[in-house]
Amino acid sequence: GADSQVYDLTTELMTMDDALLSTMWDQSKEILNFMIEFKELMMMYKCAIKAVKTKFEVLDTEFKIRYQRNPINFIKTRLKRTSSIMEKMRRKNIPFSLENIERYINDVAGVRVICSYVDDIYSIAKALIKQDDVKLIEKKDYIINPKPNGYRSLHLIISVPVFFAEQRKDMKVEVQIRTIAMDSWASLEHQLRYKQEIANEEEIARQLRECADLIADIDSRMLDIRTKIEASSSILTE
Ligand code: GTP
Ligand code: MG
Repeated sequence: GADSQVYDLTTELMTMDDALLSTMWDQSKEILNFMIEFKELMMMYKCAIKAVKTKFEVLDTEFKIRYQRNPINFIKTRLKRTSSIMEKMRRKNIPFSLENIERYINDVAGVRVICSYVDDIYSIAKALIKQDDVKLIEKKDYIINPKPNGYRSLHLIISVPVFFAEQRKDMKVEVQIRTIAMDSWASLEHQLRYKQEIANEEEIARQLRECADLIADIDSRMLDIRTKIEASSSILTE
């Protein structure tokens, strides 16, 4: 049982030579230290997510007062799982270290903002980027240039300072901004992508692409309608 296993391990350690024992001790200290530092880094990413989420909430609240409507429908956040970080680094041939996570993995912290209209995406993004503590590292506009499969969203990699007791640290956050329709398309496409062995794969891809284009058309028509309503109501209130 467990007792005899402890006994076996103890006898093994007692009879091991000192040099080996000391190496093992150093190694386990190193592993433990790494785990503590890794947890700390993940905690910092969690705080960066909170900071960015708050920035969006503030913009939404201000916008509401100014224009009597909310540009943001909801915000989803996620911290990349350790196994996904490791898998991504293996795939990209990056040695696993804390420095390399910070340098090369831009999406450990993820914030997804779902807007009502396409123009809200750009107003919200612009208002975020111009804040003087936000540094824009990369911008990919998959709305103007959709992916070949039809994927649309505005992607930003930003860095924001987070203030801790002993230090200020700039943390990277991946921001995805999209409409409700773009979001439901992306969730569906994501689910289908992980289904193995789809019959008729090409036909399904074609249909998805078609849906993405229809959705883009509907998004732009909804924006047109809203603009017209706003124009006519401002004439009435003048
Ligand atoms: P990687 O994260 O290494 O793929 O970096 P990248 O430079 O290719 O990033 P990109 O901005 O293209 O995509 C980042 C994230 O956007 C992904 O992790 C997904 O969450 C989302 N995304 C990108 N393309 C697609 C797509 O075709 N379908 C769906 N559903 N999501 C996508
Ligand atoms: Mg990608």
